[in-house]
Amino acid sequence: MIQVDLLILNAAQVITCASPDGPKRGEAMTDVGLITDGTVAVADGEIVAVGPTVDLQADYNAHQTIDAGGKVVCPGFVDPHTHVVYAGDRVGEFELRIKGASYMEIMAAGGGIVSTMRATRAASVEQLAAETRPRLAAMLKLGTTTAEVKTGYGLDTDSELNMLKAIESLDQNQPIDLVPTFLGAHAIPPEYKDRTDAFTDLVVEEMLPQAAAWYKNSSFGRRNWPFFNDVFCEQNAFDLVQSRRVLETGLALDIPAKIHVDEFTSMGGVTLAVELNAISADHLDVTTPEERERLANSSTVGVVLPAVNINLGSAHFADARALVDAGVALALSTDINPGSAPCPSMPLVMAMACRYQKLLPAEAMNAGAINAAHAIGLGDRVGSIEVGKQADLLIVDVPDYRHLAYQFGGNLVERVIKRGNLRY
Ligand code: NIG
Ligand code: FE
Repeated sequence: MIQVDLLILNAAQVITCASPDGPKRGEAMTDVGLITDGTVAVADGEIVAVGPTVDLQADYNAHQTIDAGGKVVCPGFVDPHTHVVYAGDRVGEFELRIKGASYMEIMAAGGGIVSTMRATRAASVEQLAAETRPRLAAMLKLGTTTAEVKTGYGLDTDSELNMLKAIESLDQNQPIDLVPTFLGAHAIPPEYKDRTDAFTDLVVEEMLPQAAAWYKNSSFGRRNWPFFNDVFCEQNAFDLVQSRRVLETGLALDIPAKIHVDEFTSMGGVTLAVELNAISADHLDVTTPEERERLANSSTVGVVLPAVNINLGSAHFADARALVDAGVALALSTDINPGSAPCPSMPLVMAMACRYQKLLPAEAMNAGAINAAHAIGLGDRVGSIEVGKQADLLIVDVPDYRHLAYQFGGNLVERVIKRGNLRY
C-alpha cells in the first residue's frame, strides 16, 4: 500500500490532456487523454498516479478520498491572457457601444483603456488588490487555477510598478497561481497624446528596466517563475517599429515576449512575434493565411479570445479552425478586462469557441488547459493530469467532459483542488 494525501476515485472520466512533448497541435488537439472510470492520486500537492480505478485502487491508501462517481475530473483551467487587475469599471462605455460607438472610437476619444488608467492611477496597491480579489474568486469557482495577469492600466512608471506589486500580493493571498506580464505599452496616456515615440522611449528607457529590477527581487523572480513583456500592436496604439523596440528591449533584459496582435488591423505583428520567439501571439482576429502558416511553423502559441468578439457585439472571430488545421498550437483565454471582455469564465469561452470558431469540445479543452499552460511558460507544471505535475484539479458535475462546452451560462464545476488542497 502506498500512502498518499488524496485519492479521487471512480471518476466517470478523467481528462488528462497529457502531452509530455510540448503543446498539442493538429490531430492531437482532438485527443483529451480520456480514462474511463479513472482515479487520481495526490501527495505533497503533486499528482503521483493517474489511471483506471481498477488498476490503482488496490495500491493506494489515502488520508482523504473523494468519490467522483458519475463525474468528470480534469485539469484546472489556465487563463493565459488577462487584465484582471484594475480599478473602477466601464459600464458606461458598454451603453455607448450598444448605441453604436465602436471600441476603437471610444479609445480614440480618450475613453477605453485610458479611462481605466485614471481609476487605476488613483488607487493604492491595496485598493487594486481589494478590487481584483472578487474577480479572481469568480474565476476560481469557474475552474481557473492558474492565470497570467498584465499591467497596462498605470501607463506611468510608478503606477505600472504598483500594478506589478498588486499582482505579487494577490498571488500570495488567494489560491490562483498568477504569472505577471509587464504591458507598459498598452495605450498612449493623455500626457503623451500624439507623441507615441516619446512614450515608447519612456517604456524602454525607464519602465522596462525598473520592471526587470522589480521582478528580480519579487517573489516571482526568487523562484524563477515566468515573467513576460507584452505590447498592444495596433493602429492608434503601437506600430510595428515601436512594438519591436518594446519587445527587443524586454529580451535584452531577459524578459520573453508576448504580443497583442491582429485584433482589428493586420500589421505584420505575427511575423515579428515568430522572429522574436514570443511565447504567445494573442487575438489573431484578422491574421492573414501567410502569417498563420508562419505561426504554425514556430514555437509561439496562438491565443484566441472569443469573449472579446462577443462582448463587442461582433460577428467576426479569429479563425481558430484554420489555425488548428494549419498546425498552430492554439490556446483559449478570457482576456478578462473592464473594456473588451468583462468575463471570468473559461468554460464560457470554450462554449463560444465551439460555436463560433468551430473547435470540437476536445480541442477547446486542450486549448484551455495544456496549451494555455504553454502560452505562459508553465507547460511543465500545470495544464494536464500527469505524474509530477501540480495537483490542480477540477471535479465537474457531468458524466462527459463535452458538457463543459455544450452547456453554458451556469457553473458545472463542483470542486476546485489547488496544489492538492480543496479551495472551492
Ligand atoms: O486585450 N486590446 C487591448 N487590450 C485589451 C483590452 C483592454 C481594455 O479595453 O481595457 C484586450 O482586448
Ligand atoms: Fe488583452
